[in-house]
Amino acid sequence: MIAIGSDHAAAELRKLVKDYLENQEIPFTDCGTDESPSDYPLIARKVCTMIQNGEADSGILLCGTGIGMSMAANKHRGIRAAACSEPYSAKFTRLHNNANVLCMGARVVGSGLAQEILDAFLFTEFEGGRHQKRIDMITEIEQNESGTGGTY
Ligand code: RB5
Repeated sequence: MIAIGSDHAAAELRKLVKDYLENQEIPFTDCGTDESPSDYPLIARKVCTMIQNGEADSGILLCGTGIGMSMAANKHRGIRAAACSEPYSAKFTRLHNNANVLCMGARVVGSGLAQEILDAFLFTEFEGGRHQKRIDMITEIEQNESGTGGTY
C-alpha cells in the first residue's frame, strides 16, 4: 500500500500519479488534499503516520518543489524521504538509502519525467549489505536527537 498526498501546488500531479498507480494496479490511499491553499506539513504528517502505523509501506508526497514535503517528512521517526527530480536519484535512494517516501515537485518535473521517476522508485529494491549499516546510523541520529539514546 502506498500513501499519497499533495498540497495545492501539486494537485494535478497527484491526479496523474494516482492514474499511474491505478494503471499499474498498485494499491494506494489518497491522503489529499483538494483544498487550496493548503499547508504541506499537514499532508506530510498524514502520509508519514500511515507508514509509521504500518498502514502503508511507502509514500509519495508532492508539492511545488518537493523540498518542503521532504523536509516535513524527514522530521518523522522512521521516515527516509527523498526529493527527486530525475530517475537516477530515485533509483539510488532506493538502492542505497532504502527511502520510503518519494517527494517530487510539480513545478520542477513534467508528467513524463514524473512517471520515469516513479518507475525508478517503485521498481527498485534496497540493496542492503554495506548500506544497512549506514541506515542504522541514520536511525541512531534520530534516536539521539529525540533523547532516546544513540551514539551519534
Ligand atoms: C506552495 O506555494 C509551495 O511553497 C509548496 O508547494 C512547496 O513547494 C514547498 O516546499
